[in-house]
Amino acid sequence: MAPFAETPILSHHTKSPIEVSKEPDLLDGWWTSEYLFALERRAVFSKTWICIAHRSRFTKPGDYISMEIAGLPILIILGKDHIVRAFHNVCRHRAYTVTKKPAGSSLVLGCRYHGWSYDTKGNLVKAPQFDGIQGFKKSENGLFKIQTCTDRGGFIYINLSAGQLLEAPDCQETLELATEHGISAGSKWITGWELSGGFNWKTVGASDRTGIGTSAASAAGNWFIEKMVSMFRRPQLDVAGAKLVKVAPLTTVAMIPKCPLWLMLTTIPISAGQCTVKCDVFSTDATTLNKTDKEVLSSFVASHIHALEQSYEAVKIIRPFQEPLLLPLLKGHLKLERLAGMEIFPGKREEGKSEGFCRAERVCKELDQIAKAGNVLRSTVSGLDW
Ligand code: FES
Repeated sequence: MAPFAETPILSHHTKSPIEVSKEPDLLDGWWTSEYLFALERRAVFSKTWICIAHRSRFTKPGDYISMEIAGLPILIILGKDHIVRAFHNVCRHRAYTVTKKPAGSSLVLGCRYHGWSYDTKGNLVKAPQFDGIQGFKKSENGLFKIQTCTDRGGFIYINLSAGQLLEAPDCQETLELATEHGISAGSKWITGWELSGGFNWKTVGASDRTGIGTSAASAAGNWFIEKMVSMFRRPQLDVAGAKLVKVAPLTTVAMIPKCPLWLMLTTIPISAGQCTVKCDVFSTDATTLNKTDKEVLSSFVASHIHALEQSYEAVKIIRPFQEPLLLPLLKGHLKLERLAGMEIFPGKREEGKSEGFCRAERVCKELDQIAKAGNVLRSTVSGLDW
């Protein structure tokens, strides 16, 4: 298995030069270092395929979800052609976030700052004050695309790398899951919620010593998860035998036995010691959740996060005994940065603006100034006591 699409993109880098010095020991602070987390944002989340959502989360064209990965705001939306696409959730005008809602449905996404609007394919469809400006082309100012792939089981993968990818996502785990448990794009999304957790994202895969890229195909592989599921032996919804499969690098899928329900838990790393876990509940048929089932699942997920926090507390001061499989990827990226003499952030999109854009933007800014001056004048006048 090749869990990573290694695509060193030297052309997409930040401007901050880095010190060329002795190689840092990344194992010190493996769980807690913010320096290491910043490197993981560039070396892992920015250039590997991430299983991020399921096709059945989107039912009608315009349905979307948004989140931040590696500090980059992203948007995943179903098009009128029923294809799911992902984009940087960043307006091409002045880089404000286009939608701040975590989920919604709209065939046109309007940026509320100056009214630029985008369709479900990310095309710019409206740019007030820019229309008619010579050299400005809407077709060159759509949302930045994120490479997206949906497997036969309906699992959606994204890769934030702006460069050409050398590998397709490894969908082996999700395809097996789909075959064994009848999961498909026709599954039904029932509900979803988010929880915060005080743990490092690698804690999720701590038992396989990598934190990334290796499946844990049964609950037996994770002592803390085994302990957790034993707490929920309930006749209504038996999550005791839940089969947990880790899909690299951030997602765990939980199948509830003898039941059409299944869960997708996606860990969104926020910092070295903090994550948000997105939980989505699906069914392979038309089953709905009753109140008791909802409570059981809520407790199950809360306990899952609590167990991760406990696991993190137990390991965070310990240096890994064996070399994590993730380490060569991090070292390889650092080496590239050292050669380039600067940080390389393959997921960042910073493209030069065309001359037409700059001309139109000058006009737009002048109009802004005039509008502001008008407001000042109005407020001054209204403040006068004639
Ligand atoms: S920043 Fe979006 S329209 Fe100006």
